[in-house]
Amino acid sequence: MAKFILFPKNFLWGAATSAYQVEGGNINNDWYFWGNEKKTPSRCAKAVDSYNRFEEDFDLAGQLGHNAQRISLEWSRIEPQENQFNQEEIEHYRKVLLSLKARGIKAVLTLHHFTNPLWFYSDGCWLNPRSVSRFAEYVNRVSKEFYGLADYWITINEPLVYVYNSYLRGAWPPGEKSISKVLAVIANMARAHLSAYKIIHNNCQNVSVSIAKHIRIFSPCQGLGLGLNALSAYLRNQVFNYRLLEFLAKKKSLDFIGVNYYGRDFVKFSSKDFFGRDCYCSRHQLRRNSLGWYVFPEGLLKILMRLKKFNLPLMITENGTSEKEDYLYEKYLRQHLFYLARALGQGVDIIGYLWWSLIDNFEWDKGFGAKFGLIGVDRDLNRSIKPFALAYKDICLNNKLEYA
Ligand code: BGC
Repeated sequence: MAKFILFPKNFLWGAATSAYQVEGGNINNDWYFWGNEKKTPSRCAKAVDSYNRFEEDFDLAGQLGHNAQRISLEWSRIEPQENQFNQEEIEHYRKVLLSLKARGIKAVLTLHHFTNPLWFYSDGCWLNPRSVSRFAEYVNRVSKEFYGLADYWITINEPLVYVYNSYLRGAWPPGEKSISKVLAVIANMARAHLSAYKIIHNNCQNVSVSIAKHIRIFSPCQGLGLGLNALSAYLRNQVFNYRLLEFLAKKKSLDFIGVNYYGRDFVKFSSKDFFGRDCYCSRHQLRRNSLGWYVFPEGLLKILMRLKKFNLPLMITENGTSEKEDYLYEKYLRQHLFYLARALGQGVDIIGYLWWSLIDNFEWDKGFGAKFGLIGVDRDLNRSIKPFALAYKDICLNNKLEYA
């Protein structure tokens, strides 16, 4: 007989997207500029045209039994020039949020998901100390405008991933590779979150505010130099996974923790880099997804148990994969939910689970090759529900996971 696990009442079930990755037509931010410089395999251009088709997308989310949807606002639409707000775009996002509400889907609203308005980008971006007050102005405006339309607010998505790709790896705009800049940007983003947290609470009642924190499992490669490999893995774990959360929690600026979890990295020491380098040697027997990422469902349990000490509700604000075959998505989904349920069983307060992503979309420096969506999109941008999304639907509607 199949066994099953029931999830808590009012558990949030849904998916996540970000504005630039799905909307299309964004021509006033750093990623548009980056695409024009041919630094991505393809331009984002129309993306999947969700700017115009959001009703259709949310209809599908509703049909899939979702009661929550994470979206982001595109700052460059709302404030195309410093201190000049575009009311038409604000009204557009009001419609987007109202259309979720009309479908009984709770909005989880992200204010910064990797993209920056060009005016902000060209004037030092997050290195400029004024970035903090600039972000605050934007947050002040949107939290007044969208009062009552979102229960959960995420100020900044994955600050460390942003900083790693944009200021250390040089793969995202502005393409920098500098440790001192990394530190300056993290400090400004942390300050920006602290002030945004206060502003949102001043302007809105009964909302929960957080960041979405990407957390990975870092394991030392068991090969040569195990001790040093372990040291690099430990450093990554401290610096990349937990330092910022500890700082923000100490400042009492998190009402819950948004957790983005994808998998595991193996780390090999490198004399050129404190944090070592990723290792893909044949010792590691774990399955890899179509992007080459190691799939490690138990890692979700480990992370959730570690986060328990914060004594804050946790929401999985992203978890997902890109695969070549449908059954692998379903397997990934079920295995991760199984470990999430184990964490619930051990007393971790988890309030929701959002799959990345609702729909296939633009995957940053990888272009359109990655397919994370519950909904597929063809060349004419017609939508179709993927088979594994129906398995997820069953789980969402019954609030229950069956397993063998
Ligand atoms: C980001 C998304 C991205 C996803 C898959 C997350 O780190 O927030 O924007 O598409 O990972 O790579």
